[in-house]
Amino acid sequence: MPQIAVIPGSFDPVTNGHLDVIRRAAGIFDEVHVLVVHNPDKQAMIPIARRVELIETALGTTRNIVVRSWSVGLLVDYCTDVGARVIVKGVRNTADLEYEQPMAIVNRHLGKIETVFMMPNPEHAHVSSSLVRQVASLGGDVAPYVPEVVRDFLQGDMAPGLNL
Ligand code: PNS
Repeated sequence: MPQIAVIPGSFDPVTNGHLDVIRRAAGIFDEVHVLVVHNPDKQAMIPIARRVELIETALGTTRNIVVRSWSVGLLVDYCTDVGARVIVKGVRNTADLEYEQPMAIVNRHLGKIETVFMMPNPEHAHVSSSLVRQVASLGGDVAPYVPEVVRDFLQGDMAPGLNL
């Protein structure tokens, strides 16, 4: 039976830290589903469909990674639908762990889905989507933190229409 992992998140936008975790997870699991999920607790900047496209372009051709969105129910329902028993999340620090821990416990209760935490590569440990949004909104160069396609998107013609 193929071991499938789901990597959920807002990815608003995807960062080099996310990509590092996604690629490393793809080296461990047979199949990785990157799932762009609407988080009602956060005000989104980029439309979900565009976030999916940005991740796909940043990853390029991959053997065992699919990128999808999910907005119709519990994350564990998606996991069960595709036969995934594991959620993968990156944790950069204790604040991340505190944020992730209740979700991991609830997801295990709701759907018997285990969450596996991966440490970031230290060079990405300070990078977050919110930091990228703030730097971009103030006209700074986000090139060190995001793939080229995201930088171009944030600094291109679409930028004035975004909720920066
Ligand atoms: O990148 P984020 O915003 O921290 O990701 C949080 C996310 C989207 C993974 C989380 O909010 C989530 O899983 N939402 C789906 C709804 C759900 O299943 N909620 C109950 C378990 S937390």
